Formats: sequence, structure tokens, C-alpha cells
Amino acid sequence: MRWLFSILLLALLGVAHALSYTGNRLLVVLEEAGEKDKYSTFWADLTSRGFSLTFSSPKDDKLSLFRHGERAYDHVILLPPKSKGLGPNLSPQTIVDFINREGNILMALSGESATPTAIQSLLLEFDIHLSTDRNSLVVDHFNYDKVSAADKHDVLVLDRPQEYKEGVKSFFGGNGVVAVPRAVGQVLGNENPMLAPILRAPSTAYPYNPKEEAEAVDDPFAVGTQLTLVTAFQARNSARFTVLGSSELLQDKWFDATVKRGDKEEKAANREFAKQITAWTLKETGVLKVGRLQHWLNEGAVKGGINETGLDVPEHNPTIYRIKNDVAFEIELSEWSNDHFVPFHPAPSDVVQLEFSMLSPFQRLPLNALAPSPTHPNSTIFATDFKLPDQHGIFNFRVNFKRPFLTNVDEKRQVTVRHFAHDEYARSWAISGAWPWIAGIWVTVAGWVVFVALWLYSAPASDKTKKTQ
Ligand SMILES: *[C@@H]1O[C@H](CO)[C@@H](O)[C@H](O)[C@H]1NC(C)=O
Ligand SMILES: *[C@@H]1O[C@H](CO)[C@@H](O)[C@H](O)[C@H]1NC(C)=O
Repeated sequence: MRWLFSILLLALLGVAHALSYTGNRLLVVLEEAGEKDKYSTFWADLTSRGFSLTFSSPKDDKLSLFRHGERAYDHVILLPPKSKGLGPNLSPQTIVDFINREGNILMALSGESATPTAIQSLLLEFDIHLSTDRNSLVVDHFNYDKVSAADKHDVLVLDRPQEYKEGVKSFFGGNGVVAVPRAVGQVLGNENPMLAPILRAPSTAYPYNPKEEAEAVDDPFAVGTQLTLVTAFQARNSARFTVLGSSELLQDKWFDATVKRGDKEEKAANREFAKQITAWTLKETGVLKVGRLQHWLNEGAVKGGINETGLDVPEHNPTIYRIKNDVAFEIELSEWSNDHFVPFHPAPSDVVQLEFSMLSPFQRLPLNALAPSPTHPNSTIFATDFKLPDQHGIFNFRVNFKRPFLTNVDEKRQVTVRHFAHDEYARSWAISGAWPWIAGIWVTVAGWVVFVALWLYSAPASDKTKKTQ
């Protein structure tokens, strides 16, 4: 009986097991129930990855992202509304609150209908700008699909992003092409480190309003690679917000579409790309976890560098060191990949750094990844050793690792660095610069002794002087 019960329990656990690191409660907001069937493969893929989907309409009065002051869902997918906006239950303030509480959102736009101004102003909260012309969509006369958009050129066929780009690991890489039908182009705010483009428009693309039917576009809002078709935003608390310019990309008909760019006919990899985008947004990939973090005195009896056990060291993470001490530091990092942790490896040109700082860093050192070992199969240990600066005060060991597409790591450990105690200075004779002075003292002492000896043992000269007088 008991084994039956355990098997039942295991089966239940198996079903409830989601691939996301943070949770599996997913709310899908779509206006018309009829729309739902167009995305059936997409929903099936999400369900098979362990998400429990709740569908709701923005017009539903009971719709709320919070219950009893807590998040009611872990993730939200917003499909583009046809009406004026997302309604009072999904006001920009609510959505920003949801992200502040570490909820993740995938927001899809669509160039098929005008983008509501409420959504434009919501995106401005994230420094993502849309064209003021609400009907505009991205067209390209070179990279379009000859099968479905021979005239309108509004279905873009683009190469998928590379796995590593500009020293950043992207979770969206792969071979093949994606079809991006009727996308709304976004422009990202300047120098905002929280924003990262996932898919940019090609250099020949530009926004166009099909309703105006103008021959030429004067003074477009943005052109070419200034336009982003899929944008990632990761907040300071690592909550994720992804803007997908084309909701059609997720529909069944594009999941197995055959597209033709130039003379080459190919199958679109939209299904794989949609999976990568949702996996990243819903925290199935790119989540870093900090394991053991320790620092210790690396001198005297325990000198000899660091090794992966480091366990024989007398005291770990002491609260006080002395200036000029040799110390060792290590941090263990692992990365969540779909359903388990794997050792974290930074991109080839990237390093994890340690800062030893008081207000500003006194030391900024690269951390070396130690070789994998059976003692830590699911993580990488990054380590270094160094000499503390000649400055006493309150310092932090800090690892501040913030990269696009990876959750933020900012770990601090505070320690006191004291000055030398009076009996810890080197003895005078150990300091070669002091030797002339030490020699001076002993020469004076010796001179005095010689003088006294001579004085005492010299015969008095008084008789002689009497005689001569
Ligand atoms: C690691 O270092 C400690 C102390 O420095 C030493 O006792 C121990 O043998 C070392 N372990 C390995 C595996 O080298
Ligand atoms: C560690 O990795 C192994 C195989 O790569 C995996 O089966 C296991 O679940 C992982 N453990 C954790 C805690 O993620």
C-alpha cells in the first residue's frame, strides 16, 4: 500500500514539476476567446513544459494580478488588444507593480491593428518607444517572404540571432530563419543597460503605414537596425519583460510555414524561436544562482594557495582582517537550464570580477574558474587570492555581475580591516634601513665603555705636573 502511495506522490510531483525556476502559474490575457485557437500549438508547448495556463479577457472584472496583496501568477502573457487598451485591471501601474514583485511578462504587439496609446505609454515606462503613427508596421523590400507577402512585403524573413554576439551570450541563437509577420518596430532608449535587443530589423527595413498608401515615407520615425522587433527588458530585481513586435509569429500557421526569401525556400523556425523567447522570459534559462561564497586568511599555516576544497582552513568568512594580509576568495555560481542547474561559464571574452571596495574599489580582480570536479558537479567555482591594501577601514568583498540576458548577481560581504597591532610590526633589526641607527647606538655604547675603561686604568698625571712646577 505504501509503495502505491509513494508512486502516486511521485507521479503528482512529476506533473507539477515546471521547467521555470520561479513558478508555473501563467496567466494569458487575450481579448477574444476565438483568438485562442490560432495559437493552439503555442499553448500546447507551454503546457508540456509544465506551465498551468489560465486564460482571461482584459474585460473580465475578476481579472487581477494580485490576490491578498501577493502575486496571483508568476508570469503573464499579454496578447495585443483590439480595443483601446488593456483596461483598468491591467493599468500601467499594475503592470509595473507586478514586475516590481518579480513577475515576468511577455507582451505581444501586432501591426494588424492600431497599437493602443495606453500600450505606447506603458512601454515608455520601460524606455521603449513606438512610432507615433499607431498603424505603422515594419516592411522590407529585400528580406520579405515571397510566398505570403509578394506585394505588401510586410512579412519579414530574418536569420536567427547568433549564439554569442558582441561578447554576450544570447539564448536565442540557432540556424535557419524566422518569419516575422506585420511587426511593430520598437526603438530602445539610449544607454539603458536594462534593455537588450533580441532581434533587430535588417538595415533595409523601415516603418510604413499601409492605410496611408503613400508612395514614399518622409522622415520615418526610425529605420534599419534602429528598429528592434523583439526586445528584452530585465529589471534590477531580475524580473523579465519581453516585447514581441509580432504576435502572429506565435500562431500555428507560422509555426510550420514555408517561407521564400530570394530564391531560397525554407521552413521557418518560428516554433523553436517562440520556445526560446518564452523560455527566457518565463525564467527557464539564464537564471544564475550563487552557492557557497567564502573568503579566508591565506597565510602562515594555511598558506599555499587555494584549492577547491579549501575546507582545512581554520576559519571561513572571518569578520576581521589586518592590512596587507594575504586572503583568498571564492564564489560558486550555477546556471538554471530548463530543469536543473549546470556549471556557469561566462561568455568567452567575459570574466567574473571581485571588487574589494570601501566606497570605491581598491582592488578589482578577475576571478579564475576552477576546473570542474565531482565535489561540485552543478556549479563553477570562481576563485582568486590577493594581498589586502594598506588601508584600514570597513571593506566589502563584492561580486557585481550584471550582463544582458542573465539574472543579476550582486553579492557583498562586509569585513573590517584593522591596522597593525603594536606588537605586529617587524622588529627593528629585521629592517635593513634601520641598521645605521642601530649601529650608531652600539658604537656609542661601545665608545663609552672604551672611554670609561681608559679613564679608569690610566695612571694619574698629578705628580709629574708638581715636579715640573
Ligand atoms: C587544500 O588546502 C588545504 C589547506 O591549504 C590542504 O590541507 C588540503 O590538503 C588541500 N586539498 C587538496 C585537495 O589539495
Ligand atoms: C546536476 O546535474 C545533473 C546532471 O547534469 C542533474 O541530473 C541534476 O538534477 C543536477 N542537480 C541540480 C540540483 O540541479
